[in-house]
Amino acid sequence: MIESALRQEPVAPDGIFPGGSGRTNGSLISRTRNPYWMAPMSGITEAAFRQLMDEMGAGALVSDLVSAKGLIHGSGKTLGMVRVHANPGAPVGIQLFGESAEDIVEAAHTIKDAGAEFIDINLGCPVNKVVKKGCGAALLRDPAKLETYLAKIKNGIDLPLTVKMRTGWNEKELTIHECVAAAYNAGCEWVAIHGRTRAQGYSGRADWDLIAKVKERARIPIVGNGDIRSAERARARLRETGVDAVMIGRGALRNPWIFMQCLETNVPPGMPPGAMPPRANVNVGSDGFDSGGEREPSRTVEAWPVTSGRLPGAEAELSVATRRRSATIGTPAASAQAQGGVESSGTPAARWPGNAPGRMGPAPIALDKHCSPSESSPLGPAARWPGAMEILNRYRDLLREHYDSRRTLLMTRKLAVWMAYGYPGAAAFRGQAFQLHAIADLFDCAARFFDHTARFPPPRFDESESFMMGGHG
Ligand SMILES: Cc1cc2nc3c(=O)[nH]c(=O)nc-3n(C[C@H](O)[C@H](O)[C@H](O)COP(=O)(O)O)c2cc1C
Repeated sequence: MIESALRQEPVAPDGIFPGGSGRTNGSLISRTRNPYWMAPMSGITEAAFRQLMDEMGAGALVSDLVSAKGLIHGSGKTLGMVRVHANPGAPVGIQLFGESAEDIVEAAHTIKDAGAEFIDINLGCPVNKVVKKGCGAALLRDPAKLETYLAKIKNGIDLPLTVKMRTGWNEKELTIHECVAAAYNAGCEWVAIHGRTRAQGYSGRADWDLIAKVKERARIPIVGNGDIRSAERARARLRETGVDAVMIGRGALRNPWIFMQCLETNVPPGMPPGAMPPRANVNVGSDGFDSGGEREPSRTVEAWPVTSGRLPGAEAELSVATRRRSATIGTPAASAQAQGGVESSGTPAARWPGNAPGRMGPAPIALDKHCSPSESSPLGPAARWPGAMEILNRYRDLLREHYDSRRTLLMTRKLAVWMAYGYPGAAAFRGQAFQLHAIADLFDCAARFFDHTARFPPPRFDESESFMMGGHG
């Protein structure tokens, strides 16, 4: 297991939900670990990936879309999708879609037996195959019908019920307020909102102003989702919109450290200016690799100069991080501020006492470098961030518990390529990775690549960049 510093006890926040949800401690959301959650992504957030993200600190996890009918018919593949790993640190939910409430209720038995803590209903899937059956985003068009549907499910199951939806069918049918009210009336625990309409697909930007307006009116916890690509943005969305949690999807593929970074309280993710030595211009070949002068350079990029395999400045940055952290411990105002919140009982930072600075891991140093706080650090000697290869190794081992070697290769390769995205040489790495058919070769190739990338600052990944523009929600 990745020995994450973030394997904390679940947190029961006090005085939550300024919107007045009426839910109390002991509710599902109070059992989530922190307000940074993994969004469901079909073909990706299966059991092994969920466990990986659990170990990386996600506050709650939702499976990809599972067909209720498939579960009822006991299809082996579908049953595999609802497996829940042992002793999850954060609550795991299984997301279902089904034409009838009865199907969902029947499928819920299997889900409970699998150890899931809640059932999530997908009301956001824009895919024709799903909406034609009246499921997914189609349910947003008739809030009254939606309420009846959800209430029937709620009355038939003994697991908590949650929903994930879009803002409406299209910009003329923004039914989100009505649909949130329907979910509340039906007794759901929260509503996660991907801030786009069904018609938008994945184009344009997620509408966080609308999410904030929904939060203002809602009587149920609201989880915001859409286009969060960095920990700074995740914290800002929480702070600015007042949502109870945020869900991160694609951002976690390119940066699986994102949940750790969200919890990192005192040092912004990436390299804080001033804490690192100046970057140097490095000549690289057409594949983006620095050949050490052996080949003709094709361009120059900015990178940290490498000395003896360890990123220079790592110690310096760490001690800066540790010093800042020590300085804030015990001062609520400082620590709340450092967490991106303002000191006040209603702010996201204050709502999540489990995010107290002393529990966090240190700042990320570089993609493939580990770092540990000093023995005297308030973080404790166990706190440490895994490197890229450690994450890939762990993912491979988890996949092997569920799949054959072919599927394990395919899935680890996908993650390696996503993590490589944006670094110099990523295209060449991707090309090579797709020609390798043995997992050992893939890992050798990845180890070389990530060793090389350790010199570069993490690539920027912002909202304007198109990345995986399709999915079931
Ligand atoms: C490949 C892919 C698959 C997805 N599958 C699902 C799904 O099964 N269920 C769901 O509710 N949303 C699904 N989504 C939507 C995401 O959960 C999320 O709402 C969306 O990607 C926006 O968030 P992001 O910008 O953080 O990725 C999927 C998205 C992608 C990119």
